[in-house]
Amino acid sequence: MEIGIDLVEHKDLIGKEEKLKLRLLSLEELERYNSFKSDKRKLEYLASRFAAKEAIFKVYKKGDLTINFSDISILNSEDGSPYVSSTKINDNLKVSISHTDNYSIAVVLKN
Ligand SMILES: CC(C)(COP(=O)(O)OP(=O)(O)OC[C@H]1O[C@@H](n2cnc3c(N)ncnc32)[C@H](O)[C@@H]1OP(=O)(O)O)[C@@H](O)C(=O)NCCC(=O)NCCS
Repeated sequence: MEIGIDLVEHKDLIGKEEKLKLRLLSLEELERYNSFKSDKRKLEYLASRFAAKEAIFKVYKKGDLTINFSDISILNSEDGSPYVSSTKINDNLKVSISHTDNYSIAVVLKN
């Protein structure tokens, strides 16, 4: 079993959202991001996807996974729970996300 965690401070992303959203989000995530009316929700969505993908890279100890942030989607099931979707990852990964006003955190597990 492997585990990865990452914590993102929202203020570090402020003012860089337009550039970051293109680098970090998949097309599916971008569609969801663009549907949010609130800037706060946009920021926490971006930050939490960043955290979740960094946590995935930690699971694979970087070098083992040569893919881009935008090749991975962190989507939500009907009940709101997040899951990882990527044609470039064959393993079954589990992800959990939490936000506060200032931070987003994500944990990823691989069996
Ligand atoms: C899920 C729940 C624990 C979120 O807690 P919270 O303190 O409000 O929010 P947090 O910042 O800690 O977590 C938010 C993240 O939790 C995750 N989440 C949402 N629903 C979830 C669920 N049912 N199970 C696991 N994780 C969930 C999401 O990843 C979300 O972030 P995202 O929308 O950016 O992906 C809370 O809403 C809850 O208890 N819900 C009960 C289930 C429910 O009502 N589902 C809605 C049915 S329509």
